[in-house]
Amino acid sequence: MSKLTGSKKATQFTESVIREMTRLNQLHGGVNLSQGFPDFPAPAAVKEAACAAIRADVNQYAVTWGARGLREAIARDFEQRHGLRIVPDEQVTVCCGATEAMMATMMGVIDPGDEVVIFEPFYENYGPDAILSGATPRYVTLREPSWTFDPDELAAAFNNRTKAIILNTPNNPTGKVFSREELEAIAALCRKWDVLAISDEIYEHIIYDGRRHIPIATVEGMADRTVTINSLSKTYSVTGWRVGWTISPPALTGAIRKVHDFLTVGAAAPLQEAGVAALATPESYYIELAEGYRRRRDRLMDILERHHFTCYQPGGAYYIMTDIRVFGFANDVAFARYLVKDIGVAAVPGSSFYRDQASGRTKLRFCFCKRDETLDEADRRLAKLQNLATAPK
Ligand SMILES: Cc1ncc(COP(=O)(O)O)c(C=O)c1O
Repeated sequence: MSKLTGSKKATQFTESVIREMTRLNQLHGGVNLSQGFPDFPAPAAVKEAACAAIRADVNQYAVTWGARGLREAIARDFEQRHGLRIVPDEQVTVCCGATEAMMATMMGVIDPGDEVVIFEPFYENYGPDAILSGATPRYVTLREPSWTFDPDELAAAFNNRTKAIILNTPNNPTGKVFSREELEAIAALCRKWDVLAISDEIYEHIIYDGRRHIPIATVEGMADRTVTINSLSKTYSVTGWRVGWTISPPALTGAIRKVHDFLTVGAAAPLQEAGVAALATPESYYIELAEGYRRRRDRLMDILERHHFTCYQPGGAYYIMTDIRVFGFANDVAFARYLVKDIGVAAVPGSSFYRDQASGRTKLRFCFCKRDETLDEADRRLAKLQNLATAPK
């Protein structure tokens, strides 16, 4: 047999379904409600800071673990918001987006055979992250409509081999915001089994209806056993800039930084400078950001419900999970392909968020990080679904 094949690791996962949907959408000239990137501009001050950094010739490698100014801004922001002191030199590592931050963390702390607890449905990167780092994933299901977990099922997923739990709050794809009680239950298991929490909090500022984001690092006994992951991508509408970070306990920072250095050396130097400006944005920006997304959420909920989708209202992040059974398709992938080709709207098949694909077969995820005109166009196109949903099955 030829040796010119992909590695065993690479054959264990497929290409990203989300990014495939974006490509299909381009092919068919559809309205892209699949991949979570805004189609409106980033804040002017943040863009201006990036241009100014390039004009000032910030063109060479930054310190591999992140420009000092940005690490200090990240530490200051976390401390001011959440009351936990962070030492930038010992705890902050700037990476190429939350994506690389997660990979550098997993590869830095996981040994082959270590178990990692993952809530499903999950952000699709966590599966390949586990495979590439050699982790054995143990899945715990979040059940609609409110995406709660069974505490006994969670407890049963922990054992002596458990090295870490991956948490994502506010959550993609469900919009769930983990409550303090839920975080305390998770923290108790982490303490009991000496487990690390790896917490992806990139939707921290996109949260609705008076809910509050609670970093698990601030729950009792968790500061020394949490890696918090965040990024500029969602908060400042710059998903293409690729600037994210980890805040880790000092004892783990060296391992994360080493992996990060050999994966990417560092994030774009001028965009790290712009990150300092971004993190200095006045509080009113974050209030308006959340309010703008709340309005878009309500608008897309209304559109989808009028077109016969059953929607699970998100408490945070910018996605709506829907139930598609009424349309009578064989599965979510067939329906998603029909939607993009015949209706002209791209969404993500639910099965790409589940290990047990059957659980996702009845679901589709839509994103609403889009201009009003984009959502209105989706509304017009989805009207063509009318006959499908109401036809006798
Ligand atoms: C939960 C979650 N984590 C990470 C990412 C990727 O973040 P970044 O652009 O910072 O790599 C996304 C993007 O959709 C996401 O939804």
